[in-house]
Amino acid sequence: MKRVKKLLAFLLLSGMISSVMADDNSTVNGQIVIHADQPRGTINRNIYGQFSEHLGRCIYEGIWVGEDSPIPNTRGIRNDVVAALKQLNVPVLRWPGGCFADEYHWKDGIGPRDKRPKMINTHWGGVVEDNSFGTHEFLDLCEQVGCEPYICGNVGSGTPQEMMEWVEYMTSDADSPMANLRRANGHKEPWKVRYFGVGNESWGCGGNMRPEFYSDNFRRYNTFVKNYGTNRVYRIACGSNGDDTNWTSVVMANVGNRMNGLSLHYYTIPSGNWGKKGPATQFSEGEWFSTLRRALEMGELVQRHSAIMDKTDPQKRIGMIVDEWGVWYDVEPGTNPGFLYQQNTLRDALVAGVTLNIFNDHCDRVKMANIAQLVNVLQSMILTDKERMLLTPTYHVFEMYKVHQDATLLPIELSAPDYKRDEKAIPSLHASASRDKAGRVHLSVINLDPHRDAQISVKVAGAQTGTITGRILTATTMDAHNTFDHPDAVKPAPFTGFERKGEEIAITLPSKSVVMLEIQ
Ligand code: AHR
Repeated sequence: MKRVKKLLAFLLLSGMISSVMADDNSTVNGQIVIHADQPRGTINRNIYGQFSEHLGRCIYEGIWVGEDSPIPNTRGIRNDVVAALKQLNVPVLRWPGGCFADEYHWKDGIGPRDKRPKMINTHWGGVVEDNSFGTHEFLDLCEQVGCEPYICGNVGSGTPQEMMEWVEYMTSDADSPMANLRRANGHKEPWKVRYFGVGNESWGCGGNMRPEFYSDNFRRYNTFVKNYGTNRVYRIACGSNGDDTNWTSVVMANVGNRMNGLSLHYYTIPSGNWGKKGPATQFSEGEWFSTLRRALEMGELVQRHSAIMDKTDPQKRIGMIVDEWGVWYDVEPGTNPGFLYQQNTLRDALVAGVTLNIFNDHCDRVKMANIAQLVNVLQSMILTDKERMLLTPTYHVFEMYKVHQDATLLPIELSAPDYKRDEKAIPSLHASASRDKAGRVHLSVINLDPHRDAQISVKVAGAQTGTITGRILTATTMDAHNTFDHPDAVKPAPFTGFERKGEEIAITLPSKSVVMLEIQ
């Protein structure tokens, strides 16, 4: 007995006993009920949309290498990048900006490339833009990827005539000046361009307007965005910067009846301080936590803006278009600060997963979202280094989640303890479920806790369940990432951590992981 007491005293003093007690606590216990008998609408595939701006190495190098490049390409567009994007079923791609859009004059980007005028990209590094990637190249990219284009027009420094002529150039089949110019530039048939943005961040880089002034500008510019032939434009008005609910109220009240969609921009900054955002790799658990906490704020933002939209649009006719979102870190050391190049880790995969779960859950209002950005900028799908290319952890989440596109949202009830730090708390588990057209139920479930595995009991109410399969994205460290020398360090693997227990499915979800379960 004396020896046992001595041993206990030693364990207490050496701190080992506290770790034993932590071990007792080391599992997150959760329950998920999927209500398969209460379908709640369709998850618009466009929620899984992308954004590509003339910024840093997104367009040039990341997508466009030119026809004479030794990098394999089709009409100047990288084959490896297109092949990777096809695997994602990218539904829609936004272009040419961002802030760049309100300085972009589309006529500079058509015709023979060696005759195109140059401009300074004042927002992004002050580099000279030679306009070799323009309207034809972008629409060719969309055709190669198999996605719809979403073009953002220039309200800030452009004219209504310029906007009108751009839409005519792309979509008219008439014997008209702009349609004939397109034909002269080698494209006989008009393109279908459904999604058109009337300005970008008009409250900031797009003109520093007040919402009243923007509303009047929207009325004016939108008048000249015409429907030619069978093309019907889905008109997207500039929406709020994060939680600026006044912008949403004023624009909805003034021009809600003239728009089809209203945008929302929200970026996740780990520190909340634009001056010193935090690094993309080699971060602390505190930064892991604050990044996920801020990413989860997207849910509150969507609800708040949606409630305002409900006042004048209770039928939810107008789509919320979250056309810029994602994590924004300090740039990689040694890179051009204006190029916004950052690494992408397991943390970003979790941010993507929780954000897409949020959008799924609000699919009655959120009709499109476009993560920023496609290649080499901010929370990218793909990074390139000359002829080399890697897929980021965020790419893998988009690939795993593509099963939710156009599926029917199934409501879930999730109960789990919080993950707490510094007197703040976020949920330790986050999930979303849908049923696809073939009747398969998909559950995307995330363990946000970087240390504790989770034991989750899943019930599917109102449906028979058969075969179960799964895939998992995880790693041993919070900042695990892919490099050009080790491009497969973080990639999805088959998931087998589940077993049937009567009516329930018992899942063991490793710490810091994203799982997609398919229940037939
Ligand atoms: O995505 C980078 C920039 O962020 C965009 O150009 C702008 O719209 C936003 O502020």
